[in-house]
Amino acid sequence: MANILIITGTVYGGAQFVAEQVQELLQGKGHTVALTESPTVECVKSDDNDTLLIISSTTGQGDLPDNLVKFYNELKNQMPLVPHKRYNVIALGDSSYGATFCGGGKQMDEIFAELQAVKLGQWLQIDACETLQPEDAAMPWAEEWAELL
Ligand SMILES: Cc1cc2nc3c(=O)[nH]c(=O)nc-3n(C[C@H](O)[C@H](O)[C@H](O)COP(=O)(O)O)c2cc1C
Repeated sequence: MANILIITGTVYGGAQFVAEQVQELLQGKGHTVALTESPTVECVKSDDNDTLLIISSTTGQGDLPDNLVKFYNELKNQMPLVPHKRYNVIALGDSSYGATFCGGGKQMDEIFAELQAVKLGQWLQIDACETLQPEDAAMPWAEEWAELL
């Protein structure tokens, strides 16, 4: 069974709601799943988890929600390499923003690749233009992702 830390980035609560649903699903499969909106570099380095799932929306022009900005900058500055950790990303966005679609999740995906974490499967981009309730896309993805854990 995996020890998973879900890291959420949200402005209006959509990503947080998705994270809570995914947490429940993964716990139902026997995994240990913690959830944080205030992640730190120490969380990433900690042996308390072996798998990170970042669930983040996008704000501004392809920007991370405020609650993840400090975390992202600290990761960039400190670059704690975590080749033993697995990760993936669920990005919430809106394709009407064009080139910045899911930019927040993309930044998270890129930084964890730079930190040498191992990506487990394909990331998920949820488009608010197509999916009214983001959990409708997230739950089937999480079911499949759980098979890889
Ligand atoms: C002010 C504002 C700016 C946004 N900018 C982007 C953007 O650049 N790219 C994108 O894909 N989505 C953008 N979005 C859409 C949100 O990421 C999307 O609605 C998401 O589902 C919100 O999730 P949340 O409730 O967790 O914040 C923006 C939304 C708002 C209100």
